[in-house]
Amino acid sequence: DDCRLDLIKSLVRAFPDFPKKGIIFRDICPILKSPEALSAVISLFEQHVREKFQKVDLVVGLDARGFLFGPLLAQRLGVGFVLVRKKGKLPGATVSVAYDLEYGKAEAEIQEDAVSPGQKVILIDDLLATGGTLYAACALMQQQRAEVLGCLVVMELKDLNGADKLKPHHVHSLLQY
Ligand code: PRP
Ligand code: HPA
Repeated sequence: DDCRLDLIKSLVRAFPDFPKKGIIFRDICPILKSPEALSAVISLFEQHVREKFQKVDLVVGLDARGFLFGPLLAQRLGVGFVLVRKKGKLPGATVSVAYDLEYGKAEAEIQEDAVSPGQKVILIDDLLATGGTLYAACALMQQQRAEVLGCLVVMELKDLNGADKLKPHHVHSLLQY
């Protein structure tokens, strides 16, 4: 067993009834606060990407917590980082798509020139719940004719079947709940 995973797992906290009654919110803040744990997350992601994919052009991170891990991974891989943001935050020409969350609704947006047709991208976020957010990001990538190699998340909430929603795209999670 990988002691990097044990370290990460030991730092995830669960908060019942946040942000709404019935949701158990898994909090990654203690991972970010520990340099060893954050480094473990990034090295596990890097190892997975290097083993699984020959060539990656870009890492695409999801607003907001995908931004905490994405640039660090992109630097390790020696590639650029692109932001998928909640609607209304990006200047210039953009494309957007609406989606549902475990606890609400939102709209994801990218700059029109953020990815080019044929570019091979990896999507990254902190957590997979219903898959609505990553599904929307995949749709944006498809609209721009980029190739989604796969998705990376620190945590996956298995009961919500997000991975099924994302098929045929593959999701790699470090922890499962
Ligand atoms: C959370 C989480 C993922 C998404 C997962 O973000 O960070 O992005 O929800 O849920 P889903 O799989 O059901 O789509 P949230 O929208 O709360 O935004 P934040 O990162 O800005 O807090
Ligand atoms: N934790 C953090 N973010 C989330 C969760 C959760 O349990 N569910 C949906 N987004």
